[in-house]
Amino acid sequence: QAENDMRIAVFAGDGIGPEVTEQAVRVLEKLDLPGLELVEGDVGGAAYYKHGHPLPAETLDVARSAQAILFGAVGDFSCDHLERHLRPEQAILGLRKELGLFANLRPAQVFAGLEDLTTLRPEVASKIDLLIVRELNGDVYFGEKGMRRLEDGRRQGWDMMSYAEDEVRRIAQVGFKAAMGRSKKLCSVDKANVLETSQLWRDVVIEVAKEYPEVELTHMYVDNAAMQLVKNPGQFDVIVTGNLFGDILSDQASMCVGSIGLLASASLAEGTYGLYEPIHGSAPDIAGKGLANPMATILSAAMLLRHSLGLEAAAARIEAAVAKTLADGIKGGDLGGTAGTREIGDAVLERL
Ligand code: NAI
Ligand code: MG
Repeated sequence: QAENDMRIAVFAGDGIGPEVTEQAVRVLEKLDLPGLELVEGDVGGAAYYKHGHPLPAETLDVARSAQAILFGAVGDFSCDHLERHLRPEQAILGLRKELGLFANLRPAQVFAGLEDLTTLRPEVASKIDLLIVRELNGDVYFGEKGMRRLEDGRRQGWDMMSYAEDEVRRIAQVGFKAAMGRSKKLCSVDKANVLETSQLWRDVVIEVAKEYPEVELTHMYVDNAAMQLVKNPGQFDVIVTGNLFGDILSDQASMCVGSIGLLASASLAEGTYGLYEPIHGSAPDIAGKGLANPMATILSAAMLLRHSLGLEAAAARIEAAVAKTLADGIKGGDLGGTAGTREIGDAVLERL
């Protein structure tokens, strides 16, 4: 239970995580929001070297004492030799599970001036304005898994895909609510022609739809959705889907709008609690060089203010400052520009 209702946990992580998070923190501080308190915690490789674990108990305590988490990135390659449960990535998986962060929201939209920089034709890319709502606590990632040797000596690995109806219902609710706040179109993506999990998914989504008569619901098989996302992405508004399909489609949709250094995400629990992070990883290849684009993390901080603290105006101010920075031609290396991490931070601060 939080004592301060404006406390944000800041978990910078490793690799470029601390560099990009620093700029997002500068932006939050510049807004001078009354009562805002930032509390740091160690995660990932940084936490492993300090505490022997990528997600120490102290860090979870900080997370639980806050309203929301601003997360940088984890994935220090120097930890690659460690057993799976000690790897940096366990920090993010552990937070999702421990804090019940079941709904991953990824908006994708092309910023003005960047239409030519995406991998799609500008006239196709410029029509993208969509939100992917991905279930984050179930599906094949959390089902029974194993590896065994068959009698004839061959190895066999398995991961069970499963969803319980309440898990589908709560993510469907998030999808419909998001659609109500946008253009009232929801596309549910599954593979109901083949998978029992998907049949249940579809049945439950149709049940939930009765509570949202204003929303126009459609269903699409995941293979077709992958195709439609590059063929005609402008047809989508909100997409709701399971963990595995959402993992793949959300990366695909993100890349349709340009650079990895621009894309923010929210991972929400019931209520207003959430973790906010850029979609990129710790980018060990450019870490420590001041080259990373901090905009994805800055935009994640804006999502945090909007969803977890209800500060719509402050969120919109940050987003406008980032858009203006880009429109003014200030770009990081990920967009073919020359601006460094701090320089981009300075430019956004000026425009706030
Ligand atoms: P990555 O996203 O870290 O990097 C992919 C490419 O994009 C690299 O060339 C990198 O330099 C570039 N890049 C990424 N963010 C950038 C930014 N803000 N500005 C400019 N360029 C940027 O993905 P990669 O290399 O596959 O993974 C590196 C590590 O990060 C791995 O250990 C992986 O497990 C971890 N990871 C962690 C995530 C998280 O913390 N939520 C998410 C994805 C990966
Ligand atoms: Mg992924």
